[in-house]
Amino acid sequence: MLAGKKIFLVIAGGIAAYKSLELIRRLQDRGATVRCCLTANAREFVTPMAVSALSQGPVYMDQFSLKDESEMGHIELSRQSDLLVVAPATANILARMAAGMADELATTLLLATDKPVLVAPAMNVRMWLHAATQANVATLKARGIGFVGPEEGAMACNEFGPGRLAEVPDIVSAIETMLNPRRPLAGKRAIVTSGPTVEPIDPVRFIANRSSGKQGHAIARALADLGAAVTLVSGPTALDDPAGVSVVHVESARDMLAACRAALPADVAVCAAAVADWGVDTVATQKLKKEPGGAPPAIRLVPNPDILATLSAPGNARPRLVVGFAAETEKLVEHATAKRARKGCDWIVANDVSAAAGTFGGDSNQVTLISESGADPWPAASKEAVAARLADRIAEALS
Ligand code: C5P
Repeated sequence: MLAGKKIFLVIAGGIAAYKSLELIRRLQDRGATVRCCLTANAREFVTPMAVSALSQGPVYMDQFSLKDESEMGHIELSRQSDLLVVAPATANILARMAAGMADELATTLLLATDKPVLVAPAMNVRMWLHAATQANVATLKARGIGFVGPEEGAMACNEFGPGRLAEVPDIVSAIETMLNPRRPLAGKRAIVTSGPTVEPIDPVRFIANRSSGKQGHAIARALADLGAAVTLVSGPTALDDPAGVSVVHVESARDMLAACRAALPADVAVCAAAVADWGVDTVATQKLKKEPGGAPPAIRLVPNPDILATLSAPGNARPRLVVGFAAETEKLVEHATAKRARKGCDWIVANDVSAAAGTFGGDSNQVTLISESGADPWPAASKEAVAARLADRIAEALS
């Protein structure tokens, strides 16, 4: 979580600058206030208008603007922040930072600050590998500047190699790690299930559901942010694997249970996956054929194992804390309380998945935590914020 944190984002002039717009949004989701400074070159790639609209504040650009100076001098700008982030950081700005130049507002701020600085480089692979850049990186690292990325991959210039901007969630994680050295879950192991399960009918068809996996993935990341060693067992989703988490990709409920068992022992298990209640009895080995005039095939369903109930069952391997989810469309607390008793878990995070709530696939969630001490409704918040709050509660319970 970054609640109350002030981040000063320097956007330098590279093609990856458009991704900094996404970074601003994700930092705000986690509660941070973001103020931005564009270098002269960055203005060729993103507009001050877009950055100002997204960051909901002024965009600082001009070293000698009387208006900016009278409102807030450059020293003051960096003083008011908890962290300065340079993303994307081009070879050019790394060189200017290493040389201690103050040739425009962005570099002046970076020279004038006494706050921690994180840079996320992005540039052509040859520029990154060039001895000059590598020497500048070494200099900056020696001065205590944090780095996230660059990653290896296909680049906008049609080349392949290190130089891609780190993924936005990885930049957010790096920021959180720099700002929150608090790691109350260090030494603890967590299992998180996420996403849907898909139950095969034949080699090409399956039964699935609408779970996006956003909430489960956010919980895995939030637990990892607090220092837990997290195994995320995920059904197929469109999401990237969260940084700093070990991910096991599965398809069916049976595979999900096997992967959870393999990840034991654990201190906490959070079952956020939307596990299919039924699997197909006999999965056809060949594609079912549509015969002209023939009757549609009958598919016999059999109950799937209940992963939450299995992990909650008393025994030596039971995690100290088992948390389930209850997606309900009515009588939320009543149904979720009954589910807690039926499954044998410690907590149920109950959420309203009626169409009106827009939880499935959406970015926000309003949940009620059901525990032995009753029902505690939480305010509606982003799935990241719900995850961070749950991770904090888990850390308290395990401490
Ligand atoms: O029974 P229901 O699907 O409503 O319960 C939801 C909770 O149980 C969720 O935490 C879900 O991850 C878990 N579950 C499970 N295995 C199943 C069915 C549900 O772990 N087969």
